[in-house]
Amino acid sequence: MSKETAVYTHGHHESVLRSHRWRTAANSAGYLLGELRPGMTALDVGCGPGTITADIAALVAPGQVTAVDTTREILDQAAEVAAERGLQNLEFTTADVHALDFPDDTFDVVHAHQVLQHVGDPVQALREMRRVCRPGGVVAARDSDYAAMTWFPEVPAMGAWQDLYRRVARANGGEPDAGRRLLSWARRAGFTDIIPTAAAWCFGTPESRDWWSGLWADRTVGSVYAKLAVEGGHATPEQLTAIAEAWRTWGAQDDGWFMVPHGEVLCRA
Ligand SMILES: C[S@@+](CC[C@H](N)C(=O)[O-])C[C@H]1O[C@@H](n2cnc3c(N)ncnc32)[C@H](O)[C@@H]1O
Repeated sequence: MSKETAVYTHGHHESVLRSHRWRTAANSAGYLLGELRPGMTALDVGCGPGTITADIAALVAPGQVTAVDTTREILDQAAEVAAERGLQNLEFTTADVHALDFPDDTFDVVHAHQVLQHVGDPVQALREMRRVCRPGGVVAARDSDYAAMTWFPEVPAMGAWQDLYRRVARANGGEPDAGRRLLSWARRAGFTDIIPTAAAWCFGTPESRDWWSGLWADRTVGSVYAKLAVEGGHATPEQLTAIAEAWRTWGAQDDGWFMVPHGEVLCRA
């Protein structure tokens, strides 16, 4: 595997998109909102199904937003989200963050949510994001940190889930504990003006617990991640079934609580 080549661990299975489509600029990009102004241009890297992208587009309109991802299929879904919301200031194109096909100094804002943890060379990715951002513009990145995720009550195989996910993600060339590394990566990419922050998602209501546990249970047995886990020799199908069952057991607890912490960096280009 070349340094920049990583396999996107989750893939775009329905159980994965169930999580991505829930995302909004408010619940996933709060640290960036104070920077956005009507008329700005923005690039959203690794936009996935594009719900955060659409929120950003609404906030910067009439400024133009460009959304990129490596796969055409997910860009088509993101374009549908934009069309459903009546947004006309968005365009979608395939691109790899390691080598963006845009001139230097193109965008006012360059954003990546939950992307750098999946790429082979996050420092090169940030260098590219910096290159295409105009001087004085802002590069914003946010990633979760799997080792720091925590939950209650203890369900034995949930620990096996955390351990397995991190092993599979690393074997695919990614860094599952990316949140804590963003500041270091941004410094290595050449940024000197960086605001590092952290924020968390919390799933502790009956509805959010049911949703979060259900999507992880389904993802554990039905997504690209499940296939990669078995093919890579990281787990047997029986072990994946046991982990999915653990997610459902945790999700059925009336006092079940789960926290997903994220590192964030707001970097002045
Ligand atoms: C976890 S999803 C996040 C999607 C979206 N930003 C969100 O938060 O809802 C990561 C996305 O990054 C994309 N991706 C992975 N590697 C990439 C690369 N090298 N360049 C651009 N996008 C990439 C994947 O295809 C996937 O859609």
